[in-house]
Amino acid sequence: MKAYSTLKGVLDILQPEILLWNKIEEITRAVLQNFGYTELRIPIIESTELFIRGIGETSDIVSKEMYTFNDRAGRSISLRPEGTASLVRSYIEHGLNNTPQPWKYYYIGPMFRYERPQKGRFRQFYQIGAEFLGNAAPVADAEIISMIDTIFKALHLPDVTVEVNTTGCRLCRPLYRDALVGFFTSEASKTNMLCDDCKVRLVKNPLRVLDCKVPTCIELRKGAPLITEYVCDECREHDEAFKGFLNEIDIKYVENPEIVRGLDYYTKTAFEFTTEHLGAQKAVAAGGRYDNLVADFGGPKTPAVGFAIGVERLAELLRQRLDVYVCAPLIFFAVLGKEAQRMAFKLSTRYRQAGVYTEIGNALHTLKNQLKRADKMAARFVIIIGEEEINKNAVIFKDLVNHTQEEVPLEGVLGCIKGKQAAYNKQKINFS
Ligand code: HAM
Repeated sequence: MKAYSTLKGVLDILQPEILLWNKIEEITRAVLQNFGYTELRIPIIESTELFIRGIGETSDIVSKEMYTFNDRAGRSISLRPEGTASLVRSYIEHGLNNTPQPWKYYYIGPMFRYERPQKGRFRQFYQIGAEFLGNAAPVADAEIISMIDTIFKALHLPDVTVEVNTTGCRLCRPLYRDALVGFFTSEASKTNMLCDDCKVRLVKNPLRVLDCKVPTCIELRKGAPLITEYVCDECREHDEAFKGFLNEIDIKYVENPEIVRGLDYYTKTAFEFTTEHLGAQKAVAAGGRYDNLVADFGGPKTPAVGFAIGVERLAELLRQRLDVYVCAPLIFFAVLGKEAQRMAFKLSTRYRQAGVYTEIGNALHTLKNQLKRADKMAARFVIIIGEEEINKNAVIFKDLVNHTQEEVPLEGVLGCIKGKQAAYNKQKINFS
């Protein structure tokens, strides 16, 4: 029979990795909540047009990487390649601008891009993203950086650098656009050597030539003008103030005028959190300001800034560092025979409803094997039920840590475990 496997660039997240993922989510959610963010669940499918208008028709994401199909009614649908466009759509659709500020939302979930899979680059990958709407001030950009920094500190993530840049606005970018076109058309040979996509980009959206991944285009753009040479006073002042706020909170940053980002909606601040431990896919988180997107989608003029963390990349960096514990059962029932299994099933249902983690052994296995399993799972207590115990309306209560064993009447069992829930065994997981 055919053996099925995951699609290329798509991962199953299994034990023990999933425990690390859960921990990342738990810690990140706690930090996001401390900064005033609430979760917004956005759909995985959207109309393709949303991404074309939001991210840009000439971006790699839209022109090459989206999973797009027609639904049964012939509408063009795409799997979301990112979360910002959907979140802004949702913000406008539900009139969230009429709810009290601050408008701070986060989302967690899979994104889809048909990229060439390699270390740290997948076709289905998870993002934890957050968007801060309604604040045009540079302090909002700094707050976003501070939040990512706080998340990474809470996760004990080492050796991450934040690279920052300004990408200009609708006032100054046309000047930069002209300068880029001038640079790439200054010699016919240069224009001819651009890849076919970039020849189109040069006409439609020259900035996108700057994030083309084709090696000849990367080579050709060496020496191209930088956006920082063309930004207007307002963008420059915003950038200076933003960096000033980072200095205030001692966040070290590197200015990288080559950060252009692969999505069209950015204005002013853009940033990437990078590391040398991930090979070519250096960015573990990235984002920036997008002051026009809400209005471009038909909403009220609303400045915004946000970011997304790549969870696979973060998990890769944390594999050896974060202490992850798996909860072990407080009670393991070892059962001998059908009647014992029935009794254990009833008792365990009561305990589980009382919030106690309980496992039941397999009645077809020997007592020895069930005890071995309880031991492997690091259970704290074992309750043994056999024919004799059923007749006496009692159980054998075994403490696996203190190595004691006693017969306890059925009504005394809860008393025995009462107050011991806090003593949950924890096993540290080793990812190596
Ligand atoms: P992005 O830079 O496209 O930005 O993605 C953010 C992060 O997602 C990256 O830094 C990386 O860690 C992760 N990532 C992206 N593509 C892949 C992939 N193929 N495989 C694994 N991880 C990947 C955005 O998506 C923007 N929506 C961020 C944003 C939010 N800007 C403003 N608000």
